[in-house]
Amino acid sequence: MTAIEINPEGLQKKRSWELKIKIKTIMKKKLFIIIPLVIIVLIQFIQIDTKNPEVKIEEDYFNLTKAPKEIADILKASCYDCHSNESKYPYYSKIAPISWLVKNHINEGREHLNFSEWGTYSDEKKISKQEECIKEIEDNEMPLKSYTLMHSDANLTSVSKAKLVEWFKLQSVPL
Ligand code: HEC
Repeated sequence: MTAIEINPEGLQKKRSWELKIKIKTIMKKKLFIIIPLVIIVLIQFIQIDTKNPEVKIEEDYFNLTKAPKEIADILKASCYDCHSNESKYPYYSKIAPISWLVKNHINEGREHLNFSEWGTYSDEKKISKQEECIKEIEDNEMPLKSYTLMHSDANLTSVSKAKLVEWFKLQSVPL
């Protein structure tokens, strides 16, 4: 006999084997969606602390330097969320992992420069921090790009930049 003999039992086995592979690949594809979803849901339980440290008026930058309202308004809009104890947490800061990035910027920002704790800085530190402000503003390093993307009102115009630089220059002249 030359014709190929078809063994119905063997064919069935092959079919069920193929079906198993199909189910497995579908499951694998679904896991690619399900696993990240589960992770995203789970990390929401790791919440950040959005409580601000107390603001002591006697240590506050505006109170100590008697900055004009115009300067205070610019600094509050562009720098205070990260460089003071008056941070306003945006709605997206409730969603992990963005919340962790926001918190990290605030922690690091405060560590480098905290206008709410200005009174605790030495005279040399006050001068050097304000000189750094001039540099960061002139180099367009501050406010951080990732921040102005979400807060367009924090963008510095060339006029507000010039005003801040002029103010900080005046302030960083040793008395
Ligand atoms: C989104 C948060 C955020 C905003 C808004 C922001 N900063 Fe910063 N700033 C940081 C972080 C984080 C650092 C430290 C890391 C770095 O230098 O990138 C920093 C560093 C600095 C430093 C350097 C201090 C040092 O010790 O080296 C200066 C000066 C500064 N910022 C000034 C400003 C000024 C002025 C504004 C507003 C015009 C501003 N920043 C707005 C987050 C921010």
